[in-house]
Amino acid sequence: MSIKNVVLVGADGNLGPGVLQGLVETGAFNVTVFKRKSSKSKSNYPEGVQVKLLSDDFPIDELIPALQNQDAVISTVYGAQVDLQKRLADAAVKAGVQRFIPSDFGSCDSQSKRAMELAPIYVAKSQVRDYLEKLAKENSGFSWTSLVCGHFFDWDLGFFHINLEAKTFEILDDGDVYWSTSTFAQIGKATAAILQKPDETKNRFAYIQSFRINQNQLLKAFEKETGQSWNVKNYDSSDYVKERKAKADDGDKSAVEDLVWVLGTLEADWEARDGYVNDLLGLQQENLDEVVARIVKNN
Ligand SMILES: NC(=O)c1ccc[n+]([C@@H]2O[C@H](COP(=O)([O-])OP(=O)(O)OC[C@H]3O[C@@H](n4cnc5c(N)ncnc54)[C@H](OP(=O)(O)O)[C@@H]3O)[C@@H](O)[C@H]2O)c1
Repeated sequence: MSIKNVVLVGADGNLGPGVLQGLVETGAFNVTVFKRKSSKSKSNYPEGVQVKLLSDDFPIDELIPALQNQDAVISTVYGAQVDLQKRLADAAVKAGVQRFIPSDFGSCDSQSKRAMELAPIYVAKSQVRDYLEKLAKENSGFSWTSLVCGHFFDWDLGFFHINLEAKTFEILDDGDVYWSTSTFAQIGKATAAILQKPDETKNRFAYIQSFRINQNQLLKAFEKETGQSWNVKNYDSSDYVKERKAKADDGDKSAVEDLVWVLGTLEADWEARDGYVNDLLGLQQENLDEVVARIVKNN
């Protein structure tokens, strides 16, 4: 199996640009971005990237011909878009596409029962993956890989409950639980590497990281970089989860994000996992202090 022609759907979101960059950097792929005709995003892509505009609802009768001669489809759309991804997968099978990478890219493991209980987005991700598993069983030429990266590290400090301006930092329990987390660049490299090792990455989860840290180490890195001591607030994670879950059940979206923060901080240590593939994919660990310095500079 060899993958050369790759379609990316969702190139303009938070994650999409990093994945696009990772693909282009290898020089190994012909990349086409699929997007809606009404899309307002800029299509400001690296040289050589093709764009295919489709009707807004991505109908299957347009997708099948558009996917002819493509080897892989990567979805980085918002992860709860189940129907869209199922339709893309159906069209991919019909067009003879070999690999589908769904929009998993989770802060935590979307297979986890607790993740599904706390945050509905993981139910949606699991529904897409179950569907891909079924398609792969029925069609020997078709396969999938789900990439699980931990929290996006260089995305949104607020999501980590870090306030750079006020120098405040919120810590769950004692802050000593280790978790895996990845930069956009690392996720892009990993996605490209999966497609370059299609046999080894077939029909499986791939867990990756830029580094494995705990919250105390992260706090120290920010204190070191800013040359100041920060104010810390500690939460008991069980009480916190109980309180945020009640709010989430009442429709509070920020409470859902807080629950995802907890899951990715307390239940996301990939190094000991069976599917941990940093070495297989040739990914280097990144340097925490260097990445934190870059984040502080850019914020
Ligand atoms: N691990 C973490 O910390 C973390 C954090 C956030 C997200 N995630 C996950 O990462 C993945 C990507 O999330 P994201 O935040 O990057 O998503 P996002 O910003 O919401 O992605 C939007 C992208 O999807 C495209 N899109 C949206 N609806 C579409 C449709 N109906 N048809 C075609 N294209 C459509 C948009 O196109 P236009 O711009 O053209 O409208 C845009 O390119 C998700 O699975 C999400 O759950 C993980």
